[in-house]
Parts: sequence; structure tokens; C-alpha cells
Amino acid sequence: MKVIHAADAMQRLALQWRKSNQRVALVPTMGYLHAGHLSLVHEARRRVGPAGLVVLSIYVNPTQFAPHEDLSRYPRDFARDRQLCRKAGVDVIFAPDNEAMYPGKEQGQYSTFVVEEVLGRELEGGTRPTHFRGVTTVVAKLFNLVLPELAVFGAKDFQQSAILRRMVKDLNFPIEMVVAPTVREPDGLAMSSRNKYLSRSERRTALVLSYGMEVARRLLLRHPGGLPVQKVVDPVARIINSQPAARLDYLAFVDPLTLQPQKRVRPGVQMTLAVFVGKTRLIDNTRL
Ligand code: PAJ
Repeated sequence: MKVIHAADAMQRLALQWRKSNQRVALVPTMGYLHAGHLSLVHEARRRVGPAGLVVLSIYVNPTQFAPHEDLSRYPRDFARDRQLCRKAGVDVIFAPDNEAMYPGKEQGQYSTFVVEEVLGRELEGGTRPTHFRGVTTVVAKLFNLVLPELAVFGAKDFQQSAILRRMVKDLNFPIEMVVAPTVREPDGLAMSSRNKYLSRSERRTALVLSYGMEVARRLLLRHPGGLPVQKVVDPVARIINSQPAARLDYLAFVDPLTLQPQKRVRPGVQMTLAVFVGKTRLIDNTRL
């Protein structure tokens, strides 16, 4: 397994791979890897085959964090990530630093961003207005540096996947987008690097996200023809906000492709929510 830090070295290697017709899959991450990330590596391997190359990028991308967010305390453990990658059969870790990704940014010499203008307005974008601009920019850059034929993302970040899919289509990236299912802890909590922030009691409280989705699912089972959104939002919000350490940020029922808010909760609708558990903001989603 190779570890590459420099952007130009990564791109040179990618160009060589392209010349020799190598199949290349990219799994972009911010590191502090867990089983959710590793499931993306396995999906990437399954798709490119044993002779293909799986590149996993590790980069805590500053442009997707707002000034008050957790950039500086975002968990990092490169030694552990490297071991996990080796075991999972990653071929190359691309781990650039800020100077490699945004050269001269501090001196005002970096000024190009990629902005998706519709799908990113609400939900995560409503709470974190500059977040997706950072995500689309860094992923576009990673695509240009690694030149993969496919890239694997997680359904855990539902809106992110939808926006990146749109970016790939709108900007004609010759890249196949693969979205793999959310990996959960045995008790239902979606795996996330941010779960590390939770105290023991917050970890228990965090179950309100998956429980809230379960409640919605059961309501829908009792009303197979669907029901007005408010009839689901109210009980789920009540359950979540009844936990002293939990505060619902948003809960929405949207079309899985257009992300348009739905008036009725029907089978096939995407339920998506964000909850503060203590100071930690967790997100989850499910297709009902
Ligand atoms: P990060 O949060 O590290 O997630 C990297 C990838 O892993 C994303 O595609 C995310 O959806 C996926 N993932 C996270 N938790 C998962 C889980 N429990 N099950 C399945 N997949 C999961 O998302 C980012 O980083 C960044 O925004 C990035 C795309 C790397 C751009 O900086």
C-alpha cells in the first residue's frame, strides 16, 4: 500500500494508471475510519476487481467547515487509519495537507469553487450555508487528482450524495457515482466519526435518531396509503425533544432525487433529520 501526500505526485500516478488502462475507484473520506468507510472500500474493490486500484483519500477539508464548527477538533488518527486501510486492501492512501489542496489560500491566491445551487439550499445547507460548496469543491479536485472511473459514497450523507451526483452530471465528470448503504452499530446508531464526541449518556440519547425513523416507519405501516407530513413530524419531534440532551435541528420528508419537500409521507419518500445531542450534531436518513 502506498501513501501519497503531494497533489502533483497523485495526479502523475493517476495519469500513468490511465495510460495503462487501469481501473481506478476513489473513496473520499475525512479519516478517523470506521466500518462505514470500510464498507465503501469493499464496494469499490468489488466493482474494480482484484486487478483494479482502490484509492482512499483522507483529508479534513477546511472549506466545508464554518468558522464555529469542529474543524480543529475533528478526530484524526492517521496511524490507525493506515492500518485499517492496509487490512481492507486499499492500494493507495491519498492524504494531502492544506497547502497541497488549496495552495496559497491564506495569501488570497486560491479563488475557484464549485457551487451546486439548488439541492444544497435546504436541510444541511439551511443550517450550514457554505458546507456543500466546500464538499463539491474538494470532491471535484479529488476527481481531477485521482482520475477515477468510479467513486463510492455513503447513503449516510444522503444530501451530499445527491449533490455530488448532480455535480457529476452537470459538469460532465466521466465518473460513475456509487452510493453504498449506511452501516450501523448493532443498536441502530449510524456509524460516524463524530460519534466519538458523545459521552456515555449522550451515546444512549443518540438512539433517538434511529428510533425516530422507526416510529415514522411504523406510522406508515399503519397508513399504507400515506399520511400528512405533520402527522409524522409532530410525534417524532416530540419523542426527540423529550430527551433532555437532544434537540431536533430539522426533520424533513423529501423526494429522494429532487429533494423537494413532500406534503404526504408515502412509501418511497426520503426521511432525513439532524439532531443536536449535547453539542454534537448528528444526521441520519432512510428511504421509507
Ligand atoms: P466522511 O464523513 O469521512 O465520510 C466519508 C464517506 O463515508 C462519505 O461518502 C460518507 O457518506 C460515508 N459514510 C460515513 N458514515 C457512513 C456509514 N455509517 N455508512 C456508510 N457510509 C458512511 O463525507 C465526508 O467525509 C466528506 O464530506 C467528503 C465527501 C470526504 C468531502 O470532504
